[in-house]
Amino acid sequence: MFRPGQIKIVTVVGARPNFMKAAPIIRAIRDHNEKQEGPSIHHLLVHTGQHYDEVMSDRFFADLGLPKPDVYLGVGSGSHAAQTAQVLEKFEGVLLREKPQAVIVVGDVNSTLACALVAAKITFDSAGSRPMIAHVEAGLRSFDRSMPEEINRIVTDHVSDLFFVTEESGFQNLCNEGISPDNIHLVGNTMIDSLLAFSSKADASAILDELGLRANIEENDASESIRRYALLTLHRPSNVDDRGAFLEILEGLEELAANYPIVFPVHPRTQQRIREFGLGNHIKMNPTKMKNGVQGVGFVDGGITSTSPLGYLDFLCLMKHATIVVTDSGGIQEETTCLGIPCVTVRENTERPVTVESGTNIVAGTSKEGIRNAIRRQMQGKSGGGMPKNWDGQAATRIIDLLIRTHVNRGLSLQTQVSKSCA
Ligand code: UD1
Repeated sequence: MFRPGQIKIVTVVGARPNFMKAAPIIRAIRDHNEKQEGPSIHHLLVHTGQHYDEVMSDRFFADLGLPKPDVYLGVGSGSHAAQTAQVLEKFEGVLLREKPQAVIVVGDVNSTLACALVAAKITFDSAGSRPMIAHVEAGLRSFDRSMPEEINRIVTDHVSDLFFVTEESGFQNLCNEGISPDNIHLVGNTMIDSLLAFSSKADASAILDELGLRANIEENDASESIRRYALLTLHRPSNVDDRGAFLEILEGLEELAANYPIVFPVHPRTQQRIREFGLGNHIKMNPTKMKNGVQGVGFVDGGITSTSPLGYLDFLCLMKHATIVVTDSGGIQEETTCLGIPCVTVRENTERPVTVESGTNIVAGTSKEGIRNAIRRQMQGKSGGGMPKNWDGQAATRIIDLLIRTHVNRGLSLQTQVSKSCA
C-alpha cells in the first residue's frame, strides 16, 4: 500500500536478459527501505510477458529470487511492431492507474523501448507531469542500425531523463548525442552485481554432472576434475534466420568441435531454425533425459550437443568452468569479462568495447575463417585483464542512491521535458 511521503517507482522487465539486470535493483530497493534512511520507496515490478514460458522467464524468477510481478501484461510473441504496440497500450493503463514518480527500464529489448516511450508521452495532470525515466545500461552503441536492439537503445536513450551507464563508451556516446553529462552516471553493471551475488550458489548446480563434464584426471586418481569444454549460444536473427549464415558459423566451429565437446543451450528462435533449415546433422540433439521439465540433459561426448535453454544458475556454472565461450549475445561478452573466460563473439561489431579492451573478448565476425582464427587465438593466448570500472557488485546500490538524491534535490516527477545539451 502506497503511503504519502513515499516515492513510487515502477521497474519494467520483459525478456530474459532483463531479469538478471533488474534483480539487484529490486534488492537494493529492499535494502534501502530496511535502512529507514530518507524517503522509503513503494516499488512495483511490471513484467510485460515478452518472454513468458518456463525456460525463458519463470526459471529466472526462481533462480534470481525475483518477487512475483505486481503487474503482468502478457504480451507474448509477435512481430516487433505487434509486440511493441501491445506493450505501449497495456503499459499506458498501468501508468495512468499507478502514477509513479519514476520508471526504471533496463537494457535494449522491445519492452524497454515501449515502456520508456509510454512514460515519455504520458501526462498525469493539467500541468503535464510525468514520471522520470531512468535507463539502466544506457549509451551502448554498436553503430549498426540493422540490429533491432540498436534502434531500441537509441530511442530509449533519447526519451530518458537519467542515464546509468556500464562503461566509459556509454558515457561518451551519450555526450556525443547531445545528452547532458550531468544526467549520466557511470555506476557499473547490474548484471555483474547478479553474477557476483549468485556465483557461489551457481557452484552448487548439478549441470556439470548431468552433462558428464566431470572426469577423473588419471586412472587411480580419485580426485575429480572438470573436462575441457566449450560453451556456445546463438540467437541473433542475422546469424540464425538465414540458412547460409547459420551454416557458415557451424563450419567455423568444426575445428573446435573436433577437439572439445561444445555445449549448446539453444534459444527457441534457434531451435525453430535448426528444424526449418535441416541443420540437425551438425548438432547432436542430446540423448535426452528430462530434468525439472528441461530437455537435453545427458552426457556430452564431443561435437556440438544441444540442450534446451538453461536457467541462470546452471548457465553461470557452465560459463565459470568453460575453456572458451562462443556467443552472439551482448550480456555474455560482459559476464565472461568478469569471469576472465576467453570469449569469441560471432558478430561484426560489439556495443560493449570494454570487453575487448579488457582482453577477454575477440569480435570474430561471422565468416568461418574469422571464427576459426579467433578461436585459435583464444585457445593459445592468455585471457583476462582489468575489471571495468565499478563492476564490483554495487551498481544497483549506486542507482538507488542516485535516484533518491535526484528526488530529494529536484523531485522525480517531471512537469516538462528536461532540456538536454552537450557540455
Ligand atoms: C529478445 C530480445 C533480444 C535478447 C533476446 C534474449 C528484442 C528486440 N530482442 O530476442 O535483445 O537478446 O530476447 O533472449 O527485444 N519464445 C519462446 N518462449 C519465450 C519467448 C520467446 O518460445 O518465452 C520464442 C518466440 O515464439 C519467438 C522467439 O522465441 O519465436 C523469439 O522471441 P522474441 O522475444 O521475439 O525475440 P528474441 O529473439 O528472444
